[in-house]
Amino acid sequence: MSPHLSNHDRSAPGLFKAGRSRTVLSIQSHVTVGSVGNSAAVFALQRLGVEAWAVPTVVLSNDNARPHVAGPALTADQLRGIIDAIAANGVLSQVDALLSGYLTAESGQLIWETARRLKELNPAVLFCCDPVMGDIDKGFYVPEGVRTFFCQQALGLADVLTPNLFELGALSGARPTSLAEVLAAARRLVEAGTSTVLVTSVECADLDREHAHMMAVTADRAVLVSTPLLDTHFDGSGDLTAAVFLSHLLAGQDLAAALGHTAGSVHAVLAETIRLGRTELALVQAQDRLVGAPAAPTAELD
Ligand SMILES: Nc1ncnc2c1ncn2[C@@H]1O[C@H](COP(=O)(O)OP(=O)(O)O)[C@@H](O)[C@H]1O
Ligand SMILES: [Mg+2]
Repeated sequence: MSPHLSNHDRSAPGLFKAGRSRTVLSIQSHVTVGSVGNSAAVFALQRLGVEAWAVPTVVLSNDNARPHVAGPALTADQLRGIIDAIAANGVLSQVDALLSGYLTAESGQLIWETARRLKELNPAVLFCCDPVMGDIDKGFYVPEGVRTFFCQQALGLADVLTPNLFELGALSGARPTSLAEVLAAARRLVEAGTSTVLVTSVECADLDREHAHMMAVTADRAVLVSTPLLDTHFDGSGDLTAAVFLSHLLAGQDLAAALGHTAGSVHAVLAETIRLGRTELALVQAQDRLVGAPAAPTAELD
């Protein structure tokens, strides 16, 4: 028997009751072909019922995985002009959260300024910063200035940080190798002022290697989630993860629910991507899984 949907339910897609949506200003790369940066985050936010206001830091044909790439990067002045116009129109105060991802050297300062500006208008605004700097197998892949921006400026201003294990090490000044050390490093970021830390791709000695593990940490909770590891590298999975996690936080879910739903949805999209033999995330094809995938089971850590 199919579940009965009232008209009220039909008018409220995604995670939000009718009329209770949230608005996210998402400042990230735009690619024409592919699902990375805003080209992953915006659709995921919208499908989850969030109003997504996209500002592109770069406008590119595609990401670096293809041999030819073309398109401009916006200058700090151009980006500031976009934010100034939104403010001059009197609608910047409608923003509930700022989402940032991979940064160019030009965009870091602007994102910091915008986060400050939004918080002045509304102290409850969430700044969700994905501190994209590198990973364990590649090391750092952003310029020194971007690293300094994340470790010194963003750390004091971000409400939600979504580092992978390598980035957690860079931000906390540690090299965590056990679950207890990952938790301690994440707590250090909480002590520095971030209310919620989502550590993606937790790999350590006391966790199995058949699963992808994520840990979410606040001042008084720590939760772990594990989904089966898939034998493929996905571009944009981190961008998708940050957007989905932020959407669940904005919908008012508690830490474990937000983490479990994020892991469940992201895994479902990745599994569908493999099933369809695609190289880019199958976001459109798997869109119902963004909302309807079962939450992955979570475990409290302390
Ligand atoms: N090969 C994979 N198998 C299963 N899950 C994956 C895989 N790659 C990514 N994910 C999921 O996507 C999330 C983000 O992954 P990734 O792009 O590696 O993040 P990051 O940019 O933080 O290193 C992971 O936490 C995991 O849940
Ligand atoms: Mg990441």
